[in-house]
Amino acid sequence: MINKSDFKLLIVKTEKDVFKEAAKIVCNEIKKKPNLVFGLATGKTMKPFYKELIYHYKKHHFDFSRVKTFNLDEYYPISGKSRNSFRYFMEKNFFRHVNIKEENIHFLSGNTKDYEKECKNYERMIKEEGGIDLQVLGIGVNGHIGFNEPNSSFQSLTRMVKLSKSTIKQNSKYFFNENFPKYALTMGIKTIMNSKKIILIAVGKKKSVAIKKTLSGKISRKIPASILRRHKNVEFIISSDVASDLKLSI
Ligand code: PGA
Repeated sequence: MINKSDFKLLIVKTEKDVFKEAAKIVCNEIKKKPNLVFGLATGKTMKPFYKELIYHYKKHHFDFSRVKTFNLDEYYPISGKSRNSFRYFMEKNFFRHVNIKEENIHFLSGNTKDYEKECKNYERMIKEEGGIDLQVLGIGVNGHIGFNEPNSSFQSLTRMVKLSKSTIKQNSKYFFNENFPKYALTMGIKTIMNSKKIILIAVGKKKSVAIKKTLSGKISRKIPASILRRHKNVEFIISSDVASDLKLSI
């Protein structure tokens, strides 16, 4: 049984509604704070979400010029120029379509030699910007957030991680002409939890088990996203197919 009083859960009819609702929240936050520090995610779920934001930019002249971004993660090793990199994904699916300034974009470098220094610098830069105001998250079928795979410490900061078999299986479908990296650099769970506001979006039946385990039962390292229930300002936005197995108590 899920106790909804612990967190905000919005169940909407269609996938499109998920992206619309999430984009509405983002635009409201940017209206309140035009220099929002915005934590971004990649993955299949995020493409239509960025499309919604681009729609707001084009249709309503929504202004991203003062927004600062920090992406959650990047494969390691990989060049930011590779078509498989998350840096490339962001450029293609979001950055180049809106008026975000290059100098306001922050990314973990997948081809740094000194990854420890890179990760420490990332934490420092987030702090210097006053922390992440709004972090948007997807969820892996194994409950991961960012690349914080099952059993990641809830105290973890930005670091290098080994990718799980499940993640390699899911993500290698979208890879071409390059060996799939075994590692990644990712914000830690603590880094994510330090965000002032978090929205997690999930669509499609295959996410229903991960969402059920995230929202019900024990908060456990086995399901990294479950820790989000301890966050003071988190909202889960999911489509009805994801929610079909949930038993809610209101
Ligand atoms: P997906 O990835 O949107 O491609 O399913 C989500 C995630 O792994 O966080």
